[in-house]
Amino acid sequence: MKNILIVYHSQSGNTEAMAKAIAEGAKAAGATVTLKKAVEAGVDDLLGCDAVVIGTPNYFAYMAGMVKDFFDRVWGTVRGQMENKPYVVFGSYGGGGLPAIESVEIICDGLGMKRMFDSVGVQRQPTPENLKKCREMGKNLAGL
Ligand SMILES: Cc1cc2nc3c(=O)[nH]c(=O)nc-3n(C[C@H](O)[C@H](O)[C@H](O)COP(=O)(O)O)c2cc1C
Repeated sequence: MKNILIVYHSQSGNTEAMAKAIAEGAKAAGATVTLKKAVEAGVDDLLGCDAVVIGTPNYFAYMAGMVKDFFDRVWGTVRGQMENKPYVVFGSYGGGGLPAIESVEIICDGLGMKRMFDSVGVQRQPTPENLKKCREMGKNLAGL
C-alpha cells in the first residue's frame, strides 16, 4: 500500500503512541503516511488513501466520541466508495477489553471495507512489545 491514512483519537497518549509506531513501521517500509487526529480528518483523506488505519481508546465501552464524530461526518459522502478498501483497527483500553475496537470494525465492515489483519488492542500504556507489534502492523500493511 502506498498511501496509508492513520486516523486516531487519544487523550492520555496511549492510542497516540500506537498510532506513531504504526506510522513508523509503514514509513520504514516505504509507504507515504498521513497521520491525523480524528477531529482533523475528513472525506478527502478517506477517499484519497489506499488503506485506512483507525485508532480509538475504549471510552465507555465504545469508540471515542471524536472517532464517532469522524464517522458521522464522512459516512453519507463516502458510502458506496469504500468497498474493499483495506483497513485495520487499533487502540487502548482500561480493563474493559475490545468493544471500542469492535464498534469501529462494525462501521468499516458496513462500508464494505476489507479488514486486512487482526485488530491490535492493548491495556493502558503500550509496552515496548506492543509498540513493536504496531510497527510490524504498519510494515505489513505497507507491504501489501
Ligand atoms: C472518558 C473515559 C471513559 C473510559 N471508559 C472506559 C471503558 O468503558 N472501558 C475501559 O476499558 N476503559 C475505559 N477508559 C480507559 C481508557 O480506555 C484507557 O485509559 C486508555 O488507555 C486511554 O487511551 P488514550 O490514552 O489513547 O486516551 C476510559 C477513559 C476515559 C477518559
